[in-house]
Amino acid sequence: MLQGKKINLRVIENEDYELYAEWLNDPKFIGEYVFNRQRSIIEIKKAFSERNPDSCTFIVEKKDGTRIGIASHFITKYGGFASIQEIGYAMIPNERGKGYTTEVVGILVDYLFLLKDIQRIQALINEENTPSKRVLEKNGFEKEGILRRLGFMIGKHVDATLYSIIRESWVEPKVLKHPGSKE
Ligand SMILES: CC(C)(COP(=O)(O)OP(=O)(O)OC[C@H]1O[C@@H](n2cnc3c(N)ncnc32)[C@H](O)[C@@H]1OP(=O)(O)O)[C@@H](O)C(=O)NCCC(=O)NCCS
Repeated sequence: MLQGKKINLRVIENEDYELYAEWLNDPKFIGEYVFNRQRSIIEIKKAFSERNPDSCTFIVEKKDGTRIGIASHFITKYGGFASIQEIGYAMIPNERGKGYTTEVVGILVDYLFLLKDIQRIQALINEENTPSKRVLEKNGFEKEGILRRLGFMIGKHVDATLYSIIRESWVEPKVLKHPGSKE
């Protein structure tokens, strides 16, 4: 488990799939800037079993164990020359605006830079998703550019914004402590 100050990230387990599927199939959870097709638990489990082992999905829990959201890191490939770690996240509507996802992204960034010999972490978001932009910017991500008309979502063509943080901007863990740290 990855422990933060207000929340923890726990790897998704069998007992979470029912809630996970309920969340993914609920437009209120997915929000107004993302559009997800409906999926069965069987399909979700199959997709997980076929995933690149360098990917992971976490349940976000409060310190008392209440499940409040999801977060993941996964590989996006660019031809044969780059495999990049990308992150995604969502919080249940009544727990938004409390700083939880800001902490989630801080933990993911620390975890990935501590664990993997990678130079960048990226996030691709709907250009209009202001809360998501804030979460990334508060964690040191920088806007790289717009991918025009990348997707068709909620009845319209949308632009996406690519954000990234590179290792030299990260410097040191801010949320997770390095195992060798005296703190
Ligand atoms: C994006 C999302 C995960 C943010 O989660 P959260 O836990 O509310 O995030 P935080 O509380 O850590 O931070 C949200 C920030 O956005 C700001 N914000 C929220 N709504 C906003 C709005 N409409 N306009 C401007 N800023 C807004 C908050 O004020 C806060 O910034 P601040 O700390 O500078 O005040 C959440 O809105 C969500 O689950 N949305 C649906 C799924 C989604 O879009 N996921 C991202 C896919 S890329």
